[in-house]
Amino acid sequence: MNLKEVLKMADEMVFAKTGQHLDNLQEAILRGTMQGEKYTKIAEEIHCNESYVRQVGSQLWQILSEKLGEDINKKNFRSAMKRFQFSIVSHFAQDCVQISCVNYCGEARHPPNIPNSHPPNQETANSKQTRTLHQDLSEMPELGDFFDRTPELQTLTTWILQQRSRLITLIGISGIGKTSLAVQLVQQIKDEFECVIWCNIDASHTPDEFEHQLIEFFSHSEKLDSPASNPKRLPLIKYLQNHRCLIVLDDVQNLFCSGELAGKYKPESEAYRSLFKQIEKLSHQSCFLLIGWEQPREVTQVKNHNTPIRTLQLKGLDIAAAGEILRDYGLAEIDNSESLIHRYQGNPLWLKSVATLIQDLGGGVTELLPNDTILLPEDLKDVLQQQFDRLSELEKQVISLLAKENQPIDRAKLLENNTIPLSDLVNALQSLSRRCLIEQQESSYTIPPVLKQYAIASM
Ligand SMILES: Nc1ncnc2c1ncn2[C@@H]1O[C@H](COP(=O)(O)OP(=O)(O)OP(=O)(O)O)[C@@H](O)[C@H]1O
Ligand SMILES: [Mg+2]
Repeated sequence: MNLKEVLKMADEMVFAKTGQHLDNLQEAILRGTMQGEKYTKIAEEIHCNESYVRQVGSQLWQILSEKLGEDINKKNFRSAMKRFQFSIVSHFAQDCVQISCVNYCGEARHPPNIPNSHPPNQETANSKQTRTLHQDLSEMPELGDFFDRTPELQTLTTWILQQRSRLITLIGISGIGKTSLAVQLVQQIKDEFECVIWCNIDASHTPDEFEHQLIEFFSHSEKLDSPASNPKRLPLIKYLQNHRCLIVLDDVQNLFCSGELAGKYKPESEAYRSLFKQIEKLSHQSCFLLIGWEQPREVTQVKNHNTPIRTLQLKGLDIAAAGEILRDYGLAEIDNSESLIHRYQGNPLWLKSVATLIQDLGGGVTELLPNDTILLPEDLKDVLQQQFDRLSELEKQVISLLAKENQPIDRAKLLENNTIPLSDLVNALQSLSRRCLIEQQESSYTIPPVLKQYAIASM
């Protein structure tokens, strides 16, 4: 806890009770108490009689006890202030949820026309209550060129800072730019948090190891805050309650089974399910951002906007931003750049891959990519294969059916095909949508051109 903030909170409490601000002696007592000093040392430092310091101290504890409605003394002052600060934050967060979907939690100011729900001293105490103390961004990749994504950054920032969402999933097909977007987001908002950590989930990450890693990080951070104390390890949720933390988990698809419908936890990853449930259900002031190709199943069931869960399905870059990528390859000025971007759905990785091929061959786009032609460079095929390898047999059948069609195909028409029972078909369609591999418009489905081309060539 920040000493300045504590002194400010205490000053406002004393002022509210006595009409007087803290004097120098009272402030010295609080400062010394926060630094774990005894009365003898405080008295020495300010050249004052020790018994007088004790007497002023005891009056001060009395005032604070009356103000906080609990017994405050020199021993418990620090923890009481911490509790008090946390209760302001959680009350304030609850108020914000009740007020409306627009809120001002991160900025500790009241929306226009909404009555001030806390006494002025509490409002001031809450202001600037977060600051970045500890970060572990060693697993966060470096950001290369990054174009646009303004609306997506705004949406995520609103969800995290203003709406205080506790669990956000950012999903999208490989190469669409999820990791890059999250890196940019973290760089923009990290200072609003006390702790920020980025973890890449790989197959070897057991849930126990992961939880242990987080607890180690948080307890180490607390130790750095107060080197004198030796905090004991707490359950993860306690740290998420006591501190405002941002935890980014990238590549969460590694938690889910291959060959099954989307988002089914591997047996050895089941404990992550309970962890995410806790993150969603229990009250705390932290945020988990999950990034990957598939959503955890329980998250997909949430459609209610009053819940602290949100999902952003990332689409391709717009023409201007995708054009910037082509510019890097000397392809910005070509006539059919827009059509090229559409064909590759503004997917930055796909565009880079095909632009590299064109550059390497030294050919013109019109010559290599006439009309609606789609080239699939080998590196792009490798990326797509990884995603197709994860599909269940049922999904592969549905993809083959969709790939044969040139127009969006209606669900009823798919059913007429008679090869797949209704319940299997709808489950497969839902799963493919959750993997962002097919697009749905009302009851019609299409498969994007690049995926179609790959499906025809490979299945
Ligand atoms: N907004 C952007 N502007 C420029 N380049 C971008 C942008 N977003 C992504 N890229 C580039 O596209 C490529 C893929 O991006 P990124 O790794 O973020 O995708 P991803 O969705 O995380 O993929 P995966 O699911 O495979 O992890 C990278 O080379 C990245 O630099
Ligand atoms: Mg990524």
